[in-house]
Amino acid sequence: MSEAPTYHNYIGGEWIPTSTGAVGENRNPATGDLIGYFPRSAQADVDRAVAAAAEAYRSWRTYPAPRRGEILYRVGEILMRRKEEIARSMTQEMGKVLVEARGDVQEGIDMAYYMAGEGRRLFGQIVPAELPNKSALAVRDPIGVVACITPWNFPVAIPSWKTMAALIAGNTVVLKPASDTPLSAIKLVEAFEEAGLPAGVLNIVCGGGEDVGMPLVRHPDVAAISFTGSNDIGRRGNVEAAQELKRVTLELGGKNAVMVLDDADLDLAVEGILWSAFGTTGQRCTACSRLIVQRGVRAELEQRLMERASRLRLGDGLDPDTQVGPLINASQLERVHSYMDVARRDGARTLLGGEPAREGALAQGHFYRPTLLTDVTPQMRVGREEIFGPVLSIIAVESLEEAIAVNNDTRYGLSSAIFTRDINAANIAMRDVTTGILYINAGTTGAEIQLPFGGTRGTGNGHREAGLGALEFFTEWKAIYVDYSGKLQRAQID
Ligand code: UN1
Repeated sequence: MSEAPTYHNYIGGEWIPTSTGAVGENRNPATGDLIGYFPRSAQADVDRAVAAAAEAYRSWRTYPAPRRGEILYRVGEILMRRKEEIARSMTQEMGKVLVEARGDVQEGIDMAYYMAGEGRRLFGQIVPAELPNKSALAVRDPIGVVACITPWNFPVAIPSWKTMAALIAGNTVVLKPASDTPLSAIKLVEAFEEAGLPAGVLNIVCGGGEDVGMPLVRHPDVAAISFTGSNDIGRRGNVEAAQELKRVTLELGGKNAVMVLDDADLDLAVEGILWSAFGTTGQRCTACSRLIVQRGVRAELEQRLMERASRLRLGDGLDPDTQVGPLINASQLERVHSYMDVARRDGARTLLGGEPAREGALAQGHFYRPTLLTDVTPQMRVGREEIFGPVLSIIAVESLEEAIAVNNDTRYGLSSAIFTRDINAANIAMRDVTTGILYINAGTTGAEIQLPFGGTRGTGNGHREAGLGALEFFTEWKAIYVDYSGKLQRAQID
């Protein structure tokens, strides 16, 4: 092995090697440089982490929520202090450009402060009772040990959404980060350790989906699972978890569209489309992968997008001139590229890109050219399937009504956007769009943590992350009736 560092799991408040000693390499997708060796954990490591979390739950559930909040405030401060360092290592680990990596850490900081505040709220309900001398209330109870299984595209933000909401509510956590981004998650866990989180309350077990993720889902002492990732794995996990009636939240991607009407401010629309289609190299669940454009502005918009997208600079995200980083790994590059044949066979036309970028230093990484496909119809696979790369499919429509119908007609329902100056059109979109998130005159990305995040249809199973939606998932309602009449009072009878 080379000089690169070896990292460990964090279980019961200690950094420990895996039960088998197995580790795997993690490499920079822009340069191929080795980042380090990370645990390839097995069932025994999962068992140990769940046992530690179950033990810690006994006292964490009664640890006062405002004090849990104080720990989260400290986590926020530590992340703030370490923001630059964590962002740089995130860029090296998964490729997104540094300014976006900073935003990813910032989203973790935002969530820390938001959920810390919830420690002094966690509002319950007090309602009038039917009978005299009786009170009726409902409180939020934690669920128990929660598994958080997270993707590589937001390697601090998404683990923060899940763990912080789970912890403030009094659950304990086993976090399994994506195999491509263990380092960012380890740094997040270090912040909790430094903030003084009691041992066992948050544990991290690194490794693969089959070796760690599925054993966590099946584990009898794991009460709930919060998963963000691919549709196939999410479905499989949900079916497994259903055997034990476990609570599951899924966030499984999108086929998000920007709609542009004839009256739109095209300068603004171009900025919004470029940012949401090619930012993060198109690897956001919320990325814009369809442009639904009204015919009157189609030609001009295509022309402008071609000009601007062809000038986007690809490269190492640490280079301040870079605008588009690499894809996460070789198999994603292959997958994205495979859609070009699909598009051609279905009759779409490539306006720009459509191939890997391999000139000079780009040959060391998994780079793909920003790609514009046009003459796409809503039935084509590139108009329906999540590609998760810098590929924008352009669909022309006649009217607002058709734009909304096309927008809504996919198996996913995460995010949409509309560019228009017509207030009536914007309000019709607000009423009729069926995605979980909608932007008026902005691109499809950039959700803030104080509102619910998630989507309809195949994007998930109806739950929401972040905002108050997160607490709905991570708590159980307990209804409590207190009878102080001193006699038996029969509800619905007396
Ligand atoms: C994701 O890609 O799963 O709204 C998360 C956004 C970010 C979060 C994206 N705040 O684009």
